Amino acid sequence: MAFGRHLLVCGFNSHPLPNMAKQKRTQTNKKSFHGKCLGKNKNLNCDLYQDDCLERLRKLPDKSIDLVIMDPPYLFDKGGGGGAFGSRAYYKEIEPLGDGFDFQVLNELERVQEKTNLYIFSNIKLLKELLVNYQVNKPHLRTDLLIWHKTNPAPSCNNKYLSNLEYVLFVREKGVKLFGDYHTKSKVYSSQTNKKDKKLYDHPTTKPVPLLENYIRNSTKPGATVLDCFAGSSSTGEACLRTGRHFVGIELDPKHFKTGEKRLRDTHSQLTQPVVKKPKKKKNRS
Ligand SMILES: C[S@@+](CC[C@H](N)C(=O)[O-])C[C@H]1O[C@@H](n2cnc3c(N)ncnc32)[C@H](O)[C@@H]1O
Repeated sequence: MAFGRHLLVCGFNSHPLPNMAKQKRTQTNKKSFHGKCLGKNKNLNCDLYQDDCLERLRKLPDKSIDLVIMDPPYLFDKGGGGGAFGSRAYYKEIEPLGDGFDFQVLNELERVQEKTNLYIFSNIKLLKELLVNYQVNKPHLRTDLLIWHKTNPAPSCNNKYLSNLEYVLFVREKGVKLFGDYHTKSKVYSSQTNKKDKKLYDHPTTKPVPLLENYIRNSTKPGATVLDCFAGSSSTGEACLRTGRHFVGIELDPKHFKTGEKRLRDTHSQLTQPVVKKPKKKKNRS
């Protein structure tokens, strides 16, 4: 790939978490991973932090981020398995992600961006809260509802519609440009749920990289800085490396942080593999 040559790992930092006793966390250490992709014309950073996003966001400088893509823990009723979730096993998998998130994060996101430019993955329950936050409380921001249409949903439709849609709320401030063309700007993106990535990265809600690449290309220019403050397995990080954007990621769970770190390293190696040309066969001139 054109932009990358080496990955310089500048180090892992471990700091003890302050006030651990007060926090319902199992993690004992904060870690961070800083990689650099050095290329002829590009010098890409990826900074992945194992941390609580609100705490880490408060340390990021004002106006340092061009685009935010985030996939926060969704709000859902924890009334048990089955039903809306397709199966009890799936419910158990995503249950820890069902508490929603602190909306103070949204205020911090406004501070770290010069102009709000933000994609938020959501289910219908969280969407309601987000719409109140943006359309009612912040009407100066423009909102659009985008859809990720899953073409292979779980075959569970007993007394309900299929769970084949995920909502993405796109919020931007006046003056923020939207690039792209007729095809990349469709409000509906159809693809299979990426079972392969879910298995590979052992994360139940991994998002498709091509979809993230589409949002990144539509909303930034190469070299821009993209933040994902609920990074999970760092799908957004991979999409950033593939599109030549800087990545800042924050993930609380040490297991997913580690997965993300490996994923960024592997993506970088993949992108920087020299292309081996097959030698041309000599023609027999007999
Ligand atoms: C819905 S998942 C994101 C999945 C991600 N889009 C991907 O493709 O892998 C939400 C993630 O947020 C993380 N998380 C939850 N609370 C957090 C917090 N306070 N700060 C940072 N990360 C948090 C969870 O551990 C989980 O991995």
